[in-house]
Amino acid sequence: MGLINWHERYSVNIAEIDEQHKQLIKMINELHDAMMAKKGKDALLPILNQLASYCIKHFSIEEKMMQQHDYPDFADHQAKHQKMTAKVKALINDVQTGKSSVTIDVMNFLKSWLDKHIMGTDQQYAPFLNSKGVS
Ligand SMILES: [Fe+2]
Ligand SMILES: [Fe+2]
Repeated sequence: MGLINWHERYSVNIAEIDEQHKQLIKMINELHDAMMAKKGKDALLPILNQLASYCIKHFSIEEKMMQQHDYPDFADHQAKHQKMTAKVKALINDVQTGKSSVTIDVMNFLKSWLDKHIMGTDQQYAPFLNSKGVS
C-alpha cells in the first residue's frame, strides 16, 4: 500500500488523463517510500524533479483540452496548476539548498493537494469535457 492509492472515484472518464493521474500517484508514492527509507537528497531530488516535470506536462495537456473546448473555469483551473508548479519548484529549491527536506508534512501536503485537485477541481471539468465527446 502506498501513501495514495488509485480509486475509481478519481476517474474523470478520460483515459489519457486517468493514466496520468495514476502516474502522478505512483511518483508521490515513490517519493514517500524514499523518504520513509531515510534516503538523502541525492535520491530525493531526482524523484522530485521527475515529479515536477510530469506535473508540468500533465497540467499543460489538461489545459490544452480545456482551452480547446472553451471550458468556462479554465482561468481558475490554470491558476491552481501554476500555484502548485511554483510550490513544487520552491520545494526543489529548498531541498537543493538544504533549507528543508522531504518530511511527512511535505508528503501530506502533496497527498492532500492531489486528492483535492483530482477529486474537486479536475472532477469539475469531467462532465463538461465528457459532454464534448472527450473520453
Ligand atoms: Fe489533473
Ligand atoms: Fe488539473
